[in-house]
Amino acid sequence: MKLIHTIGDLRQALAEARAKGEKIGLVPTMGALHAGHASLVRRSVEENGLTVVSVFLNPTQFNDKKDLERYPRTLEADCALLEQVGADIVFAPSVEEMYPEPDTRRFSYPPVDMVMEGAFRPGHFNGVCQIVSKLFAAVEPDRAYFGEKDFQQIAVVRAMVKDLGFGVEIVPCPVVREESGLAMSSRNTLLTDEERAVAANIYAVLSKSRNFASTHTLAETRRYVVDALNAIVGLEVEYYSIVDGDTLQELAHWADSDNIVGCITVFCGSKPIRLIDHIRYKG
Ligand code: PAJ
Repeated sequence: MKLIHTIGDLRQALAEARAKGEKIGLVPTMGALHAGHASLVRRSVEENGLTVVSVFLNPTQFNDKKDLERYPRTLEADCALLEQVGADIVFAPSVEEMYPEPDTRRFSYPPVDMVMEGAFRPGHFNGVCQIVSKLFAAVEPDRAYFGEKDFQQIAVVRAMVKDLGFGVEIVPCPVVREESGLAMSSRNTLLTDEERAVAANIYAVLSKSRNFASTHTLAETRRYVVDALNAIVGLEVEYYSIVDGDTLQELAHWADSDNIVGCITVFCGSKPIRLIDHIRYKG
């Protein structure tokens, strides 16, 4: 496994693989890697001749400075994990390498980038598009792997790929969870053991709401999830949107779509840490 820090070195390493006709898989990450990231890398290793994993804590997608400051940085441990799961190249550039000049590009993909994370984290998806477009341009991957944990991110990246004409296939991968059901996240390490136990209620309540939904309206189901989670000390729901899985627009009735997903953001603990998850009701 090679650890590469510059786009020039990366291009050189990839040219050799490309000349041999190998398919290139890219797994973009911000580091602090866990089994969720590892599942994406394993999938890429299975499906491509060469797998590049980028580890870059992208400042432009953080609308909350504190969130960026306390985000865990663990490059050495990340490399050990990536070696184990068979990554070929770890691309870990500096901020100056990725942003030699401030990125003034503006990306806008309505309607998918306007709601939920787009509404509550202004500028977040713009930053995601800035970095992902730079990574796609540098790597020119055949396939890029994204976790469904960030359900909306996949829709936004797909819209960007279509808009800019990148020749990359976006491969969505299922959420990997702790035994407790809590969706794995780099931010989970910022939770105390107690907070982690409390956070497990998020998926427990979402799962229960699937049964509830079979005998209740969409509005009642939404309220059930919000009330059940807000009743737990240490949790506060920021939003719970039950949306069409393609357009990500909120629905009024179960009959309005064949593809229905509930997307949630919950503040957990005293810092607090912002956690996201989702559940599929239909489709
Ligand atoms: P990051 O949060 O590090 O996540 C990198 C990738 O791993 C994303 O595609 C994310 O959805 C996936 N992932 C995270 N937790 C997962 C889990 N529990 N199960 C399955 N997949 C999981 O998402 C980002 O970084 C950034 O926005 C990025 C795309 C790298 C751009 O900076």
